Amino acid sequence: MQIQSVKGMHDLLMPDSVQWQKIRAIASELFENFGFQYLEMPVVERTELFARSSGHTSDIVQKQMYVFQDKKGESFCLRPEGTAPVVRAYIEHRLYYPEAYQKFYYWAPMYRYERMQKGRYRQHTQVGIEVLGAHEPYVDAECIFLLTELYRRLGLAAFSVELNSIGDSTCRPAYREKLVSYFQAKVSALCEDCQSRLKKNPMRTFDCKNEACKEVSKKAPRILDDLCGPCATHFESVKQSLKELKVPFDVNSAIVRGLDYYVRTAFEVKSSIGLGAQDTLGAGGRYDGLVKTLGGPDTAGFGFATGIERLMLSMPSQEVSVGRCHVFVAVLGDKARAFAFTLVNQIRLKHIKAEINYENKSLKVQMKQADRLGAQYVLMIGDHELSEGKSILRNMQTQEQVEVAFSNIISTLEQRIQI
Ligand code: HAM
Repeated sequence: MQIQSVKGMHDLLMPDSVQWQKIRAIASELFENFGFQYLEMPVVERTELFARSSGHTSDIVQKQMYVFQDKKGESFCLRPEGTAPVVRAYIEHRLYYPEAYQKFYYWAPMYRYERMQKGRYRQHTQVGIEVLGAHEPYVDAECIFLLTELYRRLGLAAFSVELNSIGDSTCRPAYREKLVSYFQAKVSALCEDCQSRLKKNPMRTFDCKNEACKEVSKKAPRILDDLCGPCATHFESVKQSLKELKVPFDVNSAIVRGLDYYVRTAFEVKSSIGLGAQDTLGAGGRYDGLVKTLGGPDTAGFGFATGIERLMLSMPSQEVSVGRCHVFVAVLGDKARAFAFTLVNQIRLKHIKAEINYENKSLKVQMKQADRLGAQYVLMIGDHELSEGKSILRNMQTQEQVEVAFSNIISTLEQRIQI
């Protein structure tokens, strides 16, 4: 029986894989320009890392983690998100210096046992950043600016930034009580999930897709009206800095995020193209208490992540040039093949993409293969050419053919091929 890939986890084939690599190159260059250093974490982490950071009541921890025990009975999981692992590495390697904050970026697959639909998969890849050790609202604005610049460089036009502040441990508890008593009065109208969220995390009701819950939460008290002085000042400064950086945004007091570690700034970037119900392209926020929760010093944090699959769905379709082959070496005869074997590898060392077929195929079949590979040129060598010390070079677009002495092959290719 044929074995297929795991549901919700996909192979990445051409031409998508070419576009994928381009996105990675653009993101890496941009993030490095902004002073972020690349960090690579293991795919497997201790389950406790996410239970303590994302929150016991979050959907990720409650329903979505791929958890398993190793032979000693310890509980591990496939990483569902990147912030907690970055913070773990930051603490483990003692990367905290009082004089400077640290900036990391990552490109990493994440695993969540989700109900699948377009833009929602069980393995997805995120590119994200985390800034550790900076409280200032400038950092929030700068990171949001950076994400919008990434989208701009990728050619995305129809996206919008939605911004909120979800307060902190000073102002959130009183707001939470107010919210619970509002929802409690309308509990029968809420879906089962929201009824149980009411005890654990009432703010999540704002995220519910159920129409009745949406209706109830429309009139619910919003935390923006109850922010404490420092949270309100922080939020005002973030908005002001975004205006200075000319980043358009809307304040949306229903943005609450599904992970427990956020405080103050929370934001999402939505796309109106290509994504349907899963319209959040990227998201993030501030998480000032997380380093401490995970055993490190009291350190501020801010970051975001954007899913590459969703990016690909909302990017304008591009003619991806396959570009797998500049020159195809077509061979006729065993002696010619032995010569061409060395030649093709010498050509490749000159940054020219060269291909060859080592089987004993007719010239017609080899020309077809060259065509399929998109070769600009075909270099023909038979036993006859071998005895004469020259080859025939055919331009596949113009069909023009010239003779090229063996000693001149590489220099001729270097002059003619467009890389
Ligand atoms: P998140 O909102 O859970 O945040 O995920 C970030 C992004 O990953 C989403 O906006 C979306 O583009 C993509 N994504 C999430 N789940 C899926 C899925 N099942 N299939 C496809 N794409 C998906 C976080 O993970 C936070 N760690 C972000 C962050 C970084 N906050 C601070 N720093």
